[in-house]
Amino acid sequence: MNINLILKSGLAAAFLFAVFTAMSGQVTNSKNIDMENLSTKEFPALPYAYDALEPYIDAMTMEIHYDRHHRAYFNNYVAAIKGTAYENMPIGKVFAEVSKAGDAIKNNGGGYYNHVFFWRILGKGTAGPSPELSTAINKAFGSFDKFKETFSNAAKTRFGSGWAWLIVTTDKSLAIGSTANQDNPLMDNSSLKGIPILTIDVWEHAYYLKYQNKRADYIEAFWNVVNWDEVNRLYMATVK
Ligand SMILES: [Fe+2]
Repeated sequence: MNINLILKSGLAAAFLFAVFTAMSGQVTNSKNIDMENLSTKEFPALPYAYDALEPYIDAMTMEIHYDRHHRAYFNNYVAAIKGTAYENMPIGKVFAEVSKAGDAIKNNGGGYYNHVFFWRILGKGTAGPSPELSTAINKAFGSFDKFKETFSNAAKTRFGSGWAWLIVTTDKSLAIGSTANQDNPLMDNSSLKGIPILTIDVWEHAYYLKYQNKRADYIEAFWNVVNWDEVNRLYMATVK
């Protein structure tokens, strides 16, 4: 091997190492990968009984929300992608180019994914944010109380129907925002972009039976049923 070839090989190796290092430093969505590959063959089961989140989220709301609203989004998404280039595409990839896919795929795909994500971050009996997530919350918002207030305000002030989100941004910090309708931060045309680790559904169908028009009361109750174990896991998986 002559000296030029050795130099070229060395430069190529250094370049590849730099690319690999840069890539490994980016925010990843690896532990959300099962979310990105959501089945379009089978409607996923609710991970607990309808009454599991009582009294904060009542059983009848949960049943109607899951078995009618969520199931309709699933069925309509499957119908919308049938026979298109999106039929066998992981839903995360669909979201990455959803502005080209049309409203039926965007709205129903969002409705399908967002609710699976929402069910997953709800639960009872978890302790709270991990030390790592607490550090990130304090850095981004000053304190846990301030974080709660900011998230709750994002949920309260979302005009009409939509979702509030806690996301990890590309620089691995935390941010809070909301999206309209069934949009989410994974969509290419969303004004809020990042990897979601917490969300709340503020469509009226999520709370009207128990809380009627009092969205603020529903949001306050929501804090009793956050599955912090899952939020902590999603945070660590996203920033590692
Ligand atoms: Fe909903």
